[in-house]
Amino acid sequence: MNKETTMNEIISFAKEKGFVFQSSEIYGGLAGAYDFGPNGVELLNNIKAFWWKENVQKKPNYYGLDSAMFKHPKVWEASGHVGGFSDPMAECKNCNTRIRVDKELEKIGVAADEKMPEDEINRLFQEHAEEISCPKCGKQDFSDAKAFNLLVKSNLGDFTSAGSDPVYLPGEACQGIYLNYKNVLDSMHPKIPFGIGQINKAFRNEISPRNFLFRTREFEQADTQFFVEPGKNKEAFDTIKAARWQWYLDLGINPKNLRWSQHDNLVFYAADAWDVEYNFPTYGFDEIEGVHDRTDYDLTQHAKHSGVDLSFNDNGNKFTPYIVETSMGLGRVFLAVLAEAYQREELAEGDERTVLRLQPNLAPTKIAVLPLTKKDGLPDIAQDIYATLSETYNVSYAVSGSIGKRYRKADQIGTPFCLTIDYETKDDNTVTIRDRDSMQQERVAIDELPEYFRNKLS
Ligand code: GAP
Repeated sequence: MNKETTMNEIISFAKEKGFVFQSSEIYGGLAGAYDFGPNGVELLNNIKAFWWKENVQKKPNYYGLDSAMFKHPKVWEASGHVGGFSDPMAECKNCNTRIRVDKELEKIGVAADEKMPEDEINRLFQEHAEEISCPKCGKQDFSDAKAFNLLVKSNLGDFTSAGSDPVYLPGEACQGIYLNYKNVLDSMHPKIPFGIGQINKAFRNEISPRNFLFRTREFEQADTQFFVEPGKNKEAFDTIKAARWQWYLDLGINPKNLRWSQHDNLVFYAADAWDVEYNFPTYGFDEIEGVHDRTDYDLTQHAKHSGVDLSFNDNGNKFTPYIVETSMGLGRVFLAVLAEAYQREELAEGDERTVLRLQPNLAPTKIAVLPLTKKDGLPDIAQDIYATLSETYNVSYAVSGSIGKRYRKADQIGTPFCLTIDYETKDDNTVTIRDRDSMQQERVAIDELPEYFRNKLS
């Protein structure tokens, strides 16, 4: 990104170039929900594929999972979400706008977070009452802060509205892993320590969704839960933490835009918790992933509430495993990748271009196939090349507009290579390949294209 890039610029760019759209836009939009457009879904899928490869497939003691989103109502009681998954909310007495009190306190530099007891956050809220105004009407007259539960209810299976326990949408993806811990043990027979990874959606009734993809009500999490013997959790935590840092570097994030932040206030069951933070344009450093030592809390709770033994028997040594969790928000990482890659560049003679310097494995389209003109059989040759390359890569095809404009369009969505079919092609069966970053061009024989791209894109 350029130094002066703003998040508003990225948000406009994301819409204009088919990466991200507001949900239900033609109806005025729905707060806290976004759709990924044609380029966005490719980038998102590429981030997911890279995460899955490195965190599940390339680790011999990790197993993949895709659990159902609907779960037994007791799950969210056992997990503690029904009783304690809340944010402190206050309401403006003049216009009824709701604010998240911990976030408003943070904005004026007061250390506060959602895990603080209600009386403590209210004491701070009163102490700083004159510094916090309603974002809508500007008045400074609020109700006391009250814990507002973030779980989203559904009416699944409730045909009578007779008041049975609601089936909630998942508040976090990891619960599906804990529910399947025993199934993975019984089917895959792993030795401890082992991990389970999954990418799944989460829903939270966020009081004030804000900052584009950063705080939404529907989002995806990529989680690993690592099951270890008690006493070995600290060592596992440090190893996992180091691996997660490396993953972000391999994703192409500049380490100067990354940092670790340790939690001051731990939830009562956690032994340690660190966040990976990214330096977003405009927003500054903020959390993109949490790495948590959850102790034996989750399996103990589910064993208690379900009545099923969830201990591990390691040759007669029976214990409830500790869990080290990594939980990454895909929307936030998508935004970080986009911000990191986005660049406006001055070219020679006052020319300018916007280029997404995405790593080739993340780029939505790998190759743009461009016949120089619509005539003289050039599109036919181009179509043949397109058909061959699209067997292996996501390839685009464009025939309209000047070749310069088509190059610029490919640069804007981060396409690493443009392949032009011109009149020379008819003579010698070669094409021009232009590199997105250097803008250098070279001639390559059509026969050699599969080998050429195998080397460049593998
Ligand atoms: N199972 C642990 C867990 O859910 P979390 O810190 O609440 O922990 C993990 O969430 C990650 O999920 C965060 O680091 C963030 O990237 C993402 N996340 C959480 N709430 C979000 C929201 N409202 N919108 C977008 N992403 C969110």
